[in-house]
Order: sequence, then structure tokens, then C-alpha cells
Amino acid sequence: MLSRKRRSLIIIGLFVLGVLLPVINKNSEITKVKAFASPFPNNSSPIVLNNGNRFVWVVNPDNNSVTRIDIGDERNFPTITIAVGREPQSLVLSADDTKVYVANTVDGTVSVISTATSQVVNTIKVGTEPRAVVLSPNGTKLYVANSNSSSLSVIDTKTDKVTKEIRLSAAPDGNIRPYALAITNDGDFDDNDERILVTNFLAQYRPNDVRPGFDDGKAGQVFIIDTARELLTDTITVEPMMDTGFSSNGSAIKRIAAGPSDRPNLVATGAFPNLLNSIVIKGNKAYLAATGSQPDGPVRFNTNVQSLLSVIDLQSNRDANLTTNMNFGIQFEPDKFDLQNNPLTRFVTVPYALAFKKTSNTGYVVSSLSNMIVQVNLDDQGKGSINAPKAMGDPGNITRILVGKNPRGIIIRNDDTRAYVMNYVSRDVTVVDIVNNKVIATVTSAPQPTDQRSQFIQRGKELFNTSIGPIFDGQAATFKGQGRMSNHGMGGCFECHPEGLSDGVVWMFPDGPRRAIPLNWDFDKKNPSIERVYNFSANRDEVQDFELNTRNVSGGAGLIRLANNEQDPMVANLTPLANTGRNPDQDAIAAYVSTIRAPISPFSQDDLDVKKGRKLFEKAGCVTCHSGSLWSTAIRDFSPPPAADRIKDGQILSVLKKVGTLDRNKTHEIIGTGATMGQPSRGDDGFNPSSLLGVYANGPYLHDGSLTTIDQVLNNPNHVGTNKVLSSPKKRAQLIKFVLSIDDRTEPFPLKK
Ligand code: HEC
Ligand code: HEC
Repeated sequence: MLSRKRRSLIIIGLFVLGVLLPVINKNSEITKVKAFASPFPNNSSPIVLNNGNRFVWVVNPDNNSVTRIDIGDERNFPTITIAVGREPQSLVLSADDTKVYVANTVDGTVSVISTATSQVVNTIKVGTEPRAVVLSPNGTKLYVANSNSSSLSVIDTKTDKVTKEIRLSAAPDGNIRPYALAITNDGDFDDNDERILVTNFLAQYRPNDVRPGFDDGKAGQVFIIDTARELLTDTITVEPMMDTGFSSNGSAIKRIAAGPSDRPNLVATGAFPNLLNSIVIKGNKAYLAATGSQPDGPVRFNTNVQSLLSVIDLQSNRDANLTTNMNFGIQFEPDKFDLQNNPLTRFVTVPYALAFKKTSNTGYVVSSLSNMIVQVNLDDQGKGSINAPKAMGDPGNITRILVGKNPRGIIIRNDDTRAYVMNYVSRDVTVVDIVNNKVIATVTSAPQPTDQRSQFIQRGKELFNTSIGPIFDGQAATFKGQGRMSNHGMGGCFECHPEGLSDGVVWMFPDGPRRAIPLNWDFDKKNPSIERVYNFSANRDEVQDFELNTRNVSGGAGLIRLANNEQDPMVANLTPLANTGRNPDQDAIAAYVSTIRAPISPFSQDDLDVKKGRKLFEKAGCVTCHSGSLWSTAIRDFSPPPAADRIKDGQILSVLKKVGTLDRNKTHEIIGTGATMGQPSRGDDGFNPSSLLGVYANGPYLHDGSLTTIDQVLNNPNHVGTNKVLSSPKKRAQLIKFVLSIDDRTEPFPLKK
């Protein structure tokens, strides 16, 4: 292990080399190589600095544009906004600062902007839903992570042409979704001796070990790609944490009955790293800040999700076993709140990005739901710490810096004095003085919507993506620090519904094991009056009913309240009252949900097999239950609340179908929380037919997430029947391809009644 001093000497040395070498070799071949960009490893980000450290460039995903901010002499002023493709999520500057490359997630393209003219000079077609871009150390190659086609596109930056598609699996596979990139930098002029690190967005079951509902049932994945051979060489398993430091008062999966809730210390809880939005290299290690999902019941706000900082050893390409739970010590912190009683002592919920200083082991983690960045320090081994208290009574020394709404990216200037934070919902950039740890400016990067409807939807998006707001206006919470959306900022919709979709986790809920449902299933986007009956047991009928998740899962004060601002006790699933129209913020969440787009399928609607598969889908009778614009017959055909005769045991009986997917022998087929924990789960009356919109990237499948491929779904004759389409290998493959191609572009079949 190098001492800190030697390490920084080497870094300074590399800096000097990087500046001098191109000059020294002025007349040799090497000048043909672009200027040596930076002595540091790179990682993908929605916000970057130019190499001169004069401009910050940031994407505006909801405005289909990028903005350049002049940061020279602390001007912090937006200078240019340039239109790009739809939903830009990541960008990078070329090594000589002449070009900006922007990944447009919805368009499946990379826009090339000339910095001299501020014009888009080229648009390069890449894979499906490109999410991240990173440049090789000398800038010769651009790598693009195609999150919905399981591949990386390689672009030669001299010609701006795609030279190769590096596959992470033989064919596009919805279980493999490359989301964030980092690339090593050995400091020489050769870009063909590096390694690219690629995160898989969602945690996966281990091979032949499908254990829905377990706190250690899944693991994260990082793929390693060799830049010389341009192929996948290794897959690193990012291990769950077995003891997060938060105990629970029982365990559904382990059949330990819930004890009194004032005695929560019965069972240690684990968590697996999920939502792998970012990866950063520092020294010979890589760091991932991830949401630690804890699906086992009983659900309580503090044993639901954690904030894991995992470390990968780049010498052995293995998990370094140095994972920390950044939330751990926060439970011992003295409570602090602002004048409106909002929690200032808040958890690091949904860490979305991180960055380290160049010359020290200090960095910052972006907590996207808690609207803050948190300082993190690495010890000599490389283990991270936010300097939280170690036990009750120890005040700790956490540095939290409050930033804009829903921060999702961070970049640190080369002189280590400033950090720039990209805030998705407030559409601005927070400039942070990281010597004194204080905010010095907020720069608007894109305008907020102006028409009323879009403003309403934006309000809903804000609430969906926060663990804190809305601000209290002096209104009462049950106790100080609780917050409307969660207890001490420890929860929010996004933690289980990233981008409004699904975290792929099977949560042990009051009905039984329930995979988080992607919310693109819920409304006909062209006609939002067409809405689904909700949940696998059809026990809810309005998005507003999910107020109960805020209150019960996340421990928040909630939005629906009485005139005196106390929580309205009359909020229930189906009856007696409709929950729509009772609180404008809750209605705004529903309005936002109605806009969530389906993941885009990599399979073209024009593919011949897809076209044949479409006919087979009809022929095999799938349309009996998967038709209409929602690709599910579970359309709500009443105005809430439903008549009493529609309800059986709290379910809208008419939509349920018995399809033989309930297996009582499974360890997880039990009620996950509440007084009846451990008793048989719901499902004897059947399940609510799933929508198939975006099924490609919305797995694992079924109510209990027990299947990972469509082929497995088709193995159950009680579900799909016995039509001979299913036994012909060729036709079966065509049917599967069609099913995997269904997204918002696919023409639906008329609703079968
Ligand atoms: C702890 C994880 C978790 C959190 C937090 C969470 N959900 Fe969910 N959500 C789920 C699961 C699991 C299901 C499926 C439940 C079932 O079928 O019974 C679900 C289902 C839904 C559905 C039904 C979709 C359909 O088509 O049937 C909606 C709507 C929804 N959630 C909205 C929200 C909103 C709004 C929030 C924030 C207030 C939220 N959820 C927070 C896990 C979560
Ligand atoms: C009788 C009604 C019915 C028919 C017919 C039917 N399904 Fe389903 N399907 C369901 C129900 C109900 C579920 C949810 C079951 C569960 O979660 O346990 C489901 C779930 C699925 C899922 C899982 C989706 C997800 O995200 O979890 C797929 C894929 C699917 N069906 C495909 C098909 C195909 C393909 C056919 C035709 C070969 C078909 N289904 C025929 C009722 C039906």
C-alpha cells in the first residue's frame, strides 16, 4: 500500500507528464495521438467539466438539451443551451475539448456537438436506451452503455463512427442492463491496455439460486471489459451485506414471529446492492454507491432500504469485502430539524453518484432522495466512512450539504476546491465550495414547465423522487423530523420504483411476496382515463391509495390530512372513500404516474419473427387476459369506491385469474408483515393479469418474481394453455420474441371481455 504522500506525488508526476509529453514529442508520431487528456480514471456522469476547467456541461433529460455553464472566476452563469435527442442522460467532452458527446436514451443515439460552433454536427445511432458514455484515457475511443440491449457501442473519436458492439450476452437480455461506466487509466498513451467497468443496473439472483424475499437473495454485478480484445472478460459479484447494523423485530422468511415493535432488536437485517447508478475508480479500487434492498418483512422504515458503499479490488477483480452501510450511524445521531420541522438528521437515501477529490481520500456521495451530498472518507484499506456516530451518545461528525431537488450527478474540479451537483427535478446545478463545505451558487440549467398540467405533473415527479418534501409550511407531523414522505428521509417511491419502474425486488408485503410493479403498466398514455386495477391481488384502485406506503412502509406523515393537518385516518384501500381529490399533492403523484414510459424494447416491430410472433400470441389465446391498451384485462370499469358486491376479501374479484402460479410449497409464499405474518399469502382467488408493456426490462416475472425468462413463464400450461404453438420450438421462439418486443410503440389488441 502506498502512503498517502507518495500517492499524491505520483499523481502530481502524472499531471506533469500529461502536460509535457505531447510537447517533448512534438515532432514524433505521438503527436498524432490526441492530447493526453487527464491522468485520472474516468466515469460516466450527467455533468462534466471541460479539460480547461472553465466550463461545466450538464444534461437536461426532461428538456432534451445540454447546457454549458461558465464557471471561470466564479461567474457560474449558464451561457449556452443546445438541443439534442430525447432524454439525454450522460455526456463527455473529447480530450481536446472540441466535441461533446451526449447519450440520448430515448432516441438511441449519441449527439456530437462542436464546442466551436455550439451546433450538433453529427448524430450516431447506437443501441437501445444508451445511458452512459465514457472516454478512453487518451480520448481515442468513446464507449456507450446501451442499457436495453445488453451491449456497449465503441465509437472511434477520429471518425465518429461505431467500430464495434461489445456484447455482454449473446442476445439482448433484459436481466443484463449496463447502466454506469468507469475506465481505468494506467497513465500511458496506449488506450488498448485498459479495463472498462460496467454496472448491471439491478441486482440479480445467483445462478440456480432463486430466493425471492431474502435480504441476501440477490447480488450486484459489475462486468469487466478488456479494451484490447473488446470483449467481456470477467463478472464481479457485488455481495450483499449480511448485517446492516439495523435490527428488526422479526423475520417472515426465517419464520421468526414479529415481537413487540418497541423491541426491534430481535433479528439482524441484511441488504443487497441494487440500483447500481454509478461506479467510480480511485487508486486500485472501484466504488459503488448503491441502494441496499431489504425485502424480508416485517417492513419498517429503517429495515427497508439502506445505503451501501461497496468496494471492488481491481487487482483481483473481486468484491474487496469492505462494504459499509452509510446509514448505520445515523440512527445514533442527535435529532435536528429545520424551523419547519423537516428532518436535517436524514438518511443517505438512494445514493445516485459519487466523486472523490484528486489529491485526497475525501469524496462526496449524492443522496438523490434526501436532496443532499454527504462527505465520505476512505481509510488506508479503502473502506468508506461518513464519520457517523459509532454508538449512542457519540455526536459523530457527518458533513451534509443540502443541494437542489433530486440530485443525480456530481463532478469535482481538478483543483479540488469546487463540486458541481446536477439536480434533476429542480433543473439546476449547485456549486459547492468543498474546502469550506458550503453552497456558493445555484445555477439554473433548464426552465421548469410553464403550462398548468405540466407543472402539476412536475410536482408529482418531485414528490415521487423525494424522501423529504413537500416542505411543511409549519404543518404538524406526528413527531419532529418525520417528514411528509418518510421518517428521517429514509424512504420514497423511487427506491422501489426507479424511474417509475421496478427495482426487480420481491418485497414481503401484507399480501405475500410481491415484486415491485413497474408503473408504466398503470395508465393508457393516450387516454389517462383508462386505468388499471392495482396490485397482484387487485386490492387497490387508485394511485392515491399508495399514501399507505408513505405512511406504513416509509414511516412518513403522509399527504392526505385533516383541516387541522393531522393525518386523515380515513384512508383505506378500496372502501369506504375514494382517495382521489383529497389532496392535490397526492393527485399530482397520480398525474406523474400516468406519464411513465415503458422501457424501450431492443426488438424491432419490423422484425419478421416479431411479426409472426404477434399472430401466434393471438392464436395461443394470450389476448384473453393480455389485451387492450394496457395489455391486461384488469381495467378499472367503475369510479372509486367500488360497490360492495365487487369485493371479495378486499380484492376486486372480477379481474383476478387463476393461472396456476401460486405454489404453496415455496418458502416465500407467506404473509410478510403484520399480525398474520407467516400465514399463507393471498392468491387462492387468482392474480391480476400483468401488463406486458416493457416486459423486456421489467422482470423478474410473476407476482413472486420467481422466473427470469419468458420461456420459463410459458412452461406453465395452467397459465398459457397447451396450444401447439408452444410446443413448436420455432413458433415458441417467435412468440417469445414478440412478447419481448412489446412497448409503447406496439399496436395493442382490442380488449377482450
Ligand atoms: C418498499 C418498496 C416500495 C415502495 C417504497 C413503494 N412501492 Fe409501489 N409497489 C411495490 C410493490 C412490491 C408493489 C406490488 C404490490 C402488490 O402487488 O401487492 C407496488 C405496486 C405499486 C402500484 C401498483 C401498480 C400496478 O399496476 O398494479 C402503484 C401505483 C405503486 N406501487 C405506487 C407507489 C408510489 C406512488 C409509491 C410512493 C408513495 C410507492 N409505490 C412506493 C413496492 C414499493
Ligand atoms: C387466463 C388469463 C391469462 C392468459 C390466457 C395468459 N395469461 Fe399471462 N398472466 C396472467 C396472469 C394472471 C399473470 C400474473 C400471474 C402472477 O403474477 O402470478 C400473467 C403473467 C404473465 C407474464 C409475466 C409478466 C410479468 O411481468 O410478471 C407473462 C410474460 C405472460 N403472462 C405472458 C403470457 C403469454 C405469452 C400468454 C399466452 C401464451 C399468456 N400470458 C396467457 C393471465 C393470463
